[in-house]
This record gives sequence, C-alpha cells and structure tokens, in this order.
Amino acid sequence: MQIVSNLARPTRQAKDFIEFIANFDGFGTTTEIFDEDNLTYYVNEFWTSRQRQAGRIHEISYRACFKAQLPGFFIDGLTEAGDTVHDPFMGRGTTPIQAAVMHRRAVGVDINPLSVLLTRPRLAPAALGAIEARLGEISEAGAWPAPEPLDDDLLAFYHHETLARIKGLRRWFAERESGGRIDNTDDWIRMVALNRLTGHSPGFFSVYTMPPNQAVSAVAQRRINRRRNQTPPVRDLFAIIAKKSRSLLADGVQGTLPGSDLRCAPAEQTPHIADASVDLVVTSPPFLDIVNYADDNWLRCWFAGIDPAAVPIAMHRTVDAWTTFVRDVFRELARVVRPGGYVAFEVGEVRNAKVLLERAVRDAVKGLPFAIEGVVVNLQDFTKTSNCWGISNNKQGVNTNRIVLARRS
Ligand SMILES: C[S@@+](CC[C@H](N)C(=O)[O-])C[C@H]1O[C@@H](n2cnc3c(N)ncnc32)[C@H](O)[C@@H]1O
Repeated sequence: MQIVSNLARPTRQAKDFIEFIANFDGFGTTTEIFDEDNLTYYVNEFWTSRQRQAGRIHEISYRACFKAQLPGFFIDGLTEAGDTVHDPFMGRGTTPIQAAVMHRRAVGVDINPLSVLLTRPRLAPAALGAIEARLGEISEAGAWPAPEPLDDDLLAFYHHETLARIKGLRRWFAERESGGRIDNTDDWIRMVALNRLTGHSPGFFSVYTMPPNQAVSAVAQRRINRRRNQTPPVRDLFAIIAKKSRSLLADGVQGTLPGSDLRCAPAEQTPHIADASVDLVVTSPPFLDIVNYADDNWLRCWFAGIDPAAVPIAMHRTVDAWTTFVRDVFRELARVVRPGGYVAFEVGEVRNAKVLLERAVRDAVKGLPFAIEGVVVNLQDFTKTSNCWGISNNKQGVNTNRIVLARRS
C-alpha cells in the first residue's frame, strides 16, 4: 500500500509544520500568506492534482467525503508511525483508513451507523480468496428467499431476479448478525453490496440511477426510467461484488495496529476514547447545508436493517447553532487530544463562500485549551486562481479545502 505523500517529512512540531507549509513549493507554486480577521491563511496547492493517486482502498462513495490526500498531508506532517489519529465525523472512513495505510492507529466515530459498516471492513480487509469462497457459499446455501411479495418500489431499480438475489443477500447478513456469526468476510461483502446497490453504470446492481450516495425515491426512479426508456436488467451480483473487491484490494492490504477502534457515536460524546490518547484529529464536520438523511439513505438503510428515522444526524441552520455544536465537539477533543497534539478541522465552502466557517471555528474554541495556528487552504488549480484568490474576493466555483489547524495547549 502506498503512502500518499512522497515529500520531505517535516518534524512533528507546529512551528516546523507551519514553516514547512509557508515554504512549500512541492508542485511548483509558492505559498501565499496573509492575515485576515485575526487568522493567518496559507494558500497553495498542497495536495491532489499533480500528486500520486490515493490508494484504491478508498474508492467507496459517500456524500461530502474528502480526498485521502487531505488527511494524508496532515498525518504525514504531524504524526509518526504508531501514533493515534482520530476522526469524530469519519463518514466513509477516509481518515482512519489513510491512518492505517500510513501505519498509524485509527480511531473514529460517526453518528451514521452506515459509516462503521462502510469503514470497518476496509480497516481489516478479508483476503480476496476468502471473499470469493464466501460468495460461492452464499450462492450454494440457497439463501434466496422463498417467494415473498416482491416490492413494487424496489422493482423501479431492479429486475425481479436481481431483487430476489439482493433480498437473499440481505437475509444472509440478517441471519448471520442475529446469530453473532458475522466475520470480516461477511463484513466485507456487505460493505461492497451497500456500495453497489444503486449507481449509474453496469457495475451496480440497479438500472441507471443516481450515484450510490444519493438514492432517489421510487417515484423519481420511474421518471428516470421513462425518460431514458430503460427497464432494469438482470445483474450478476456476485460477479459485481467480486470485481469491486478486486479493485479495492488492488494495492494490497495494510495491517491494522492494535487499539484501532471505530464506532457509531456522537462526536461530542466519546467516553470510550481515553484522555490525552490522540495525537492528531483530521476531520470535516457536517456544514450548514441541510442533508435529508432518510431520503438519501433509505435504500442502504433497508439493506442494512437500519431505521433511518432513528439516526440523529446533526443539522444546524444558523452559524450560531453550528458554532455551539462545534464548541461541544472541541470540548470533547480537548479531553482526548494530548497536550501538543493537533486538530485539522476542514470547513467547506457554504452558501457560495458567503459564510466563512473558519471564523466560526475560531469563535467556538475561545476559552478552550486550543491555539489556532492558521488556516491551510488547498487550491486545486493554483495557477488559474492564485492571482484572484482572497478571502473577500473568493470566487464562486473555485475548488478549495480550508482547514483550521489548532494545537492542543
Ligand atoms: C462531511 S461528512 C464527513 C466525511 C468524511 N470526511 C469522509 O471523508 O467520508 C460529515 C459526517 O458527520 C456525520 N455526523 C453528523 N452529525 C454527527 C455527530 N453529531 N456526531 C458524529 N458524526 C456526525 C455524518 O453522518 C457525516 O458522515
């Protein structure tokens, strides 16, 4: 498994890391540095476009996920092998998986139960041979359901034969789960199946639909079918799962360090993580945008046996409410991050960059034992945008990641 960054390693001190990013010219451009509203900004192309691709193991789609190069950059610069890296909003698990790839102990939580189901299997992947053997076993076990009324809604997405097989697979996992017999091979197959339920190519179980992280309603799907003049084709589930497994595992398998731990829990309340046990947090919280969890995830929740109405996804309509939420999270991070450790907190662009969430983060940490070292801004096409970039004249459509870097005092 490759390490994302092949650049010279800075030491783990913030002073040196800030010096490293201030002098960074890894991709041929120099860092623009300026102060605005008591925050120091460091703007450059620090990762992504001309860098080696992240490992294939990350290639699971998830709404609002970041690229593996982002956690890779901070893990490389601020930790050493064996250190502990945490993400309290882990989503598809980009940070914990990148931490494991880079031989760090991976810790993470997310309020969405799908997050653990999508991340855990890739932290300790089953071997390809075991996955293929299990697929054969499931098929031979005749886990296909006795005829039961086929669901009209699901038939908007699936051929009835495909649907019978999906239901059989779902029943296999439900029975293994209730019998306490889910092992890492089942866990892997369920993760791939969750990812392949719906999508826009023959690599998915469904007829053409939206990308897998946004399940449309059956009504909307029937509309898509009419517009495209399409009917759901028969799909070979096992061939699709085997092919995606080969692709995810193409770079090899990393070992997981003891003590790695992923759970379904709120970011603000993680009593299972010991005091001062974390060296670095790399995370991206939910932003102000309202995400309708139940609508987006109804199909994956159905497959995994999760009640979407019971998942308390954070939704904050105002900057003040969001700031209070972020403060609660930082209060918990003050407990789990060791003195001298770091938090790299990505704030996306919301409301066409009219709301600058890094300022809300600065306000949120006031009075807590954190010092803001700066805001690291990664421009994905620096050459096109460097001359016009500025906080106050930030252009709509410019693709940036902005990361508030805070040090635990
Ligand atoms: C922007 S996404 C993170 C994506 C992640 N960086 C990745 O690469 O996949 C934000 C995540 O926060 C989770 N979330 C929302 N409220 C939460 C809470 N109170 N505690 C923990 N996770 C929460 C959502 O389920 C979502 O997965």
